[in-house]
Amino acid sequence: MSNPWLEALDQANHHLQNQGLIRQLKLRLSPNGPFVDMNGSRLLSFSSNDYLGLSNHSALKQAMAEGADMYGTGSGASALISGHSTAHQLLEDKLAQTQSQHIPNVATCFINTGFMANMAMITALASLGNISIYSDALNHASIIDGIRMAKAQAQAQVFVYPHNDVEALQALLILDSCPYKLIITDSVFSMDGDFAPIQQLVKLAEQHQALLYLDDAHGFGIFGKNGYGCLEHFNTYSPNIIYMGTLGKAVGVSGAFIAAQNCWIEWLIQKSRPVIYSTSPSPAIAHTVLKSIALIQSEEGFKKRAHLFDLIAYWNQRSNFTHWHVLPSSSAIQALIIGTNNAVMEISKSLNNLNIWVPAIRPPTVPEHTARLRITFNADHSFAHIDLLIEALSKIESNLG
Ligand SMILES: Cc1ncc(COP(=O)(O)O)c(C=O)c1O
Repeated sequence: MSNPWLEALDQANHHLQNQGLIRQLKLRLSPNGPFVDMNGSRLLSFSSNDYLGLSNHSALKQAMAEGADMYGTGSGASALISGHSTAHQLLEDKLAQTQSQHIPNVATCFINTGFMANMAMITALASLGNISIYSDALNHASIIDGIRMAKAQAQAQVFVYPHNDVEALQALLILDSCPYKLIITDSVFSMDGDFAPIQQLVKLAEQHQALLYLDDAHGFGIFGKNGYGCLEHFNTYSPNIIYMGTLGKAVGVSGAFIAAQNCWIEWLIQKSRPVIYSTSPSPAIAHTVLKSIALIQSEEGFKKRAHLFDLIAYWNQRSNFTHWHVLPSSSAIQALIIGTNNAVMEISKSLNNLNIWVPAIRPPTVPEHTARLRITFNADHSFAHIDLLIEALSKIESNLG
């Protein structure tokens, strides 16, 4: 007898296959680093968001063990029940300090993941009434899903504005009589690597009494003198900012946080279902993140960031290809636009054959016809590693004729 579920699955998989969109897990046998053991080979990797190379740092591994020893491995409950330990509080105090020059009366909430943090804060804000949300066209999937949920749960009105187009955003804001306006953007775009026009957006938000929600997943730990992220980098201050930073990328551990005026963090605790109904993050992780932030703001962190920016400049000077377009970016994310899904898969495979790992990114993660290699650098890379990548890409390009 035919099984309708399996037939639907088969059909859906065929569809993905025909579009060149089948995804496959790769098993990594080594810790993350510039070289990884994956799929049976040792590969030079340009694929992680571990931008400072902290995910396998000895001091943080020690902190993880120390944290488990001091506080236990699990939090045991959601934060509001009994899962908010001293480790969580110490971390939240430190995280608040990182944004205290940029947001008045700042408080923070430590959350399991960045994906959850975006859902949590966006839906909590939407629960206040009939709000209007303005979202950059290239925002991350977790923002999009947070907005979808806000729309479904609280009838939020949604406007998607063209990428980084402040004028188009302004035109929309002027026409909108809704008093509750929320502008949401990645601060560093995850698949393009460019910055949002943060200073202009802050100005616009203040002019229109809007809140500006900044997702700094790819900025926290890297940008700013102390590595405190995009607000430090642009020397920005505003009561209208709600900031989201992640702790599993440059910070090298896992989790995320929201930083905003105390009243918004209080509201998050009242209304956010992902915070209220989920076991709070492990206290050992909180303790490790605290250690990582100390490292990031230390001399060692400063040197790592300086080296990372030297690597980015080195790549920017040398990455000239005739077939492919490198998107302009001063962040650790460098996108090489290839075009079709099949072509990007082929190039990623050819690099793999040369023992280099760069992931191919296809729609729906990026817009149609802009399939790309997403090249990411980290502080443990050397200039010689970048030379190897450029040589390999040039060789592949010359074979294309
Ligand atoms: C811009 C952006 N926001 C949020 C997230 C989600 O963060 P997390 O990996 O901590 O869930 C990501 C993850 O890739 C991201 O790129």
